[in-house]
Amino acid sequence: MLLHLPAVLTTAEVNDVVSQLTAMNWVAGKHTAGGQAIQVKQNLQIDPADPAYLPLAQRIAEALLANPLCHSAALPHHLLTPMFNCYQEQGHYGDHIDGAIHRDRITGQQHRTDVSLTLFLSAPEDYEGGELIIEDAYGSHSVKLDAGDAILYPATSLHRVEPVTSGRRLAAFSWIQSLVRSDAERTLLFQLDMTILKLRQQLGDQPEVTQLTQHYHNLLRRWSEA
Ligand code: NI
Repeated sequence: MLLHLPAVLTTAEVNDVVSQLTAMNWVAGKHTAGGQAIQVKQNLQIDPADPAYLPLAQRIAEALLANPLCHSAALPHHLLTPMFNCYQEQGHYGDHIDGAIHRDRITGQQHRTDVSLTLFLSAPEDYEGGELIIEDAYGSHSVKLDAGDAILYPATSLHRVEPVTSGRRLAAFSWIQSLVRSDAERTLLFQLDMTILKLRQQLGDQPEVTQLTQHYHNLLRRWSEA
């Protein structure tokens, strides 16, 4: 499932993050790509050794984990510490698959990547190109969101970032190890959760709404790994 998360950061928060990023050290993104991906990656990433990196990354992580839609759709078991990238001057990232296992920069622990996410930090009118293209069973999806918005997509998807032909595209990106490994099962739980939410708003806590909540939790109990 592809899911657009609107306004994960406010405009004021985006502006603050961008001004901090602009003053930090950037290095070639190829350093963190492996195998096939290194051949097709041409961008910049924040140097994780920069002392300003970690507090900023943790701020992004907190905003994502506090977002109710993100929680419902991704069911996070662990959010890997976010990174930041910059595409400019024809920078791009050709078709690739994200590695299945990533080591968290803070804890050193390894996590399975179930959900990929990109949080856009540049306004779409500030750059040309730079669309995130995600391939799934329904075809090819082009994603270019407002600054402060994020996209969640299955980490199993082939994807790329189109060349940025003018301006600068800043983003934060990360992965989530979900409590529920299967995208199909996560999608079903998300849809059920959203339906229960709407029914509760319309009907209040009727017995049938409570029963649906019971079904939700019993499915989550059956499918979750934690
Ligand atoms: Ni990727």
